[in-house]
Amino acid sequence: MRLGNTPDRFGPVTRALHWATALIVLAAIGVGYWLAYSEFSLALLKYYGLHKTLGITVLALTGLRLVWHRITAPPRPLPTGTAWKDRLAALVHKGFYVLLIAMPLSGWVAGSATGIDTVIFNRWTLPAIAPVDEGWEKAGFIIHGLTAKLLVAAIALHLGGVLVRALLQRDGTLKRMWAG
Ligand code: HEM
Ligand code: HEM
Repeated sequence: MRLGNTPDRFGPVTRALHWATALIVLAAIGVGYWLAYSEFSLALLKYYGLHKTLGITVLALTGLRLVWHRITAPPRPLPTGTAWKDRLAALVHKGFYVLLIAMPLSGWVAGSATGIDTVIFNRWTLPAIAPVDEGWEKAGFIIHGLTAKLLVAAIALHLGGVLVRALLQRDGTLKRMWAG
């Protein structure tokens, strides 16, 4: 089986990375907002651990995806037939990469600045990447909250685009990412 991408097909590795990232990102957003709107208690600590595990996994998968796409370039996007839609889709795809790095890094900075360890998979403690400091904590959480909103907006645009193409245009875009 060919693992890489071709000029008109997403290979199995790119597809697996796309769907794994999509699932984990959605879970991280859900747990993140749930934590943010919950009254803090020690019982929640394990869910903070879960959120951090999901977020750091996204960072690792995004790093892998960028390296993989250097080794084997993904196919060019299928044109939508409308120039602004093509530009918007390209912007959303690029934006995803920026956000999928900025989100976990800002969370990690903010978490480090609180002085609480970043423990992932209930097992490994990652090093702190910011000093324990209220200013860093505040700035980290502001960026984390802002990037979360941008990510939700990008996902809404992405889903809207995919649905229009799958249900109205029926141009094979979804099939290409699902089945290759
Ligand atoms: C793709 C990765 C990530 C996503 C999508 C994500 C998403 C979110 C969201 C939606 C929130 C709620 C934001 C708000 O209050 O407006 C949040 C809060 C938070 N995130 Fe993340 N996050 C990610 C990665 C991380 C990482 C890697 C860490 C730490 C290592 C982290 C630590 C936190 C913490 C400590 C909170 C605060 C929860 C509270 O308010 O009590 N996040 N995250
Ligand atoms: C929720 C998090 C998601 C993220 C971060 C995400 C990210 C991306 C990115 C960056 C691309 C560009 C190709 C690449 O670099 O791999 C892409 C393509 C694609 N995504 Fe997603 N995606 C998400 C969810 C979804 C969902 C839920 C669906 C379907 C229901 C979907 C369907 C597609 C399709 C069909 C393409 C191919 C577009 C093309 O052929 O040009 N994505 N996605």
